[in-house]
Amino acid sequence: MKTLLLQEEQIEQAAEIIRNGGLVAMPTETVYGLAADATNGKAVAKIFQAKGRPMDNPLIVHISELSQVRELVREFPEKAQKLAQAFWPGPLTIILPKSDKIPDEVSAGLDTVAVRFPSHPIARKLISLSSPLAAPSANLSGSPSPTTLRHVQKDMDGRIDAILDGGECSVGVESTVITLATEKPRLLRPGGITLEQLRAVIGEVLLDDAVLHPLKSGAQASSPGMKYKHYSPKADVILLKGTEDAFLRFVNQKTDGKTAALCYREETERIQIPYLVLGGKGDYETQANRLFSVLREADEKGYETVYAHCPETEGVGLAVYNRIIRAAGFEVIGLEK
Ligand code: TXA
Ligand code: MG
Repeated sequence: MKTLLLQEEQIEQAAEIIRNGGLVAMPTETVYGLAADATNGKAVAKIFQAKGRPMDNPLIVHISELSQVRELVREFPEKAQKLAQAFWPGPLTIILPKSDKIPDEVSAGLDTVAVRFPSHPIARKLISLSSPLAAPSANLSGSPSPTTLRHVQKDMDGRIDAILDGGECSVGVESTVITLATEKPRLLRPGGITLEQLRAVIGEVLLDDAVLHPLKSGAQASSPGMKYKHYSPKADVILLKGTEDAFLRFVNQKTDGKTAALCYREETERIQIPYLVLGGKGDYETQANRLFSVLREADEKGYETVYAHCPETEGVGLAVYNRIIRAAGFEVIGLEK
């Protein structure tokens, strides 16, 4: 299949592809999404094929007006309204009991649906010209999410109908996912909207175990996506826990030329092996913005092993930590003080 590259002026053409049951990669403020008409089960099924995504992993439905949420869910409780008011449009996905408008392909057999109202003008325009859109990240299943046009082309060229160019994504990690379909609100995936911000608006929010820890064998994932190894470059990513000195001492011994350090900008002067810069220490927004590009860069440079300095878990740092530890398949080495 030939994949068209469309510019914003050609968005009507993209909308027509969607209305005809095709697939379009679109920019959002978080990462690029691979979109299909969320009410067309056959179109949605093609997304799983193009990505190589397991069929039991449900998709997020994207809307461009708050009123659209009503027909997607059975109820829109007060806490959902408060979150929507505070953070929509923006990088927050809310899980609620689904209505019968949602095809099984979208919810993967669950009784719930994940809804997101993105702030990116191109995504919003595409939705308003077509319909609510089911869209996972536009990467091949398992690889890092795409934050630039080039990333999308690398993974999806020849597999989908079109790509809408929207430049670089600003947040850089996927949306925060919270479920309100459980007894207590629960954070399933950290992102650009932080746990602290969510708690400030609706009070108690639990942190799902799978955000920080590997799923215990036999346990059921609250979010099916958490079962799978994720965000992984081909290089082996390993997290190092310890002080800056210990980190530097450890990586500086790895002089085989095939090993790189994933580090903070402040550390670069003292690193003697190849390195990839995540961002300034404590500058979690920049770290989130750069993370997936840097993981892809590791493969382009042919590194076999990447040692990452273990990130902090406050604010947007929690999202960075969550993505890196999953890219590492939870492989962590504790360094002595
Ligand atoms: O920022 C984002 O959220 C991007 C852009 C394109 O909007 N989308 C995205 O979609 O990251 P995806 O499919 O890569 O990740 C969605 C995550 C998966 O882990 C999935 O298992 C979970 O959300 N999810 C979706 N629907 C769910 C549901 N009903 N219950 C629990 N988890 C759900
Ligand atoms: Mg994804």
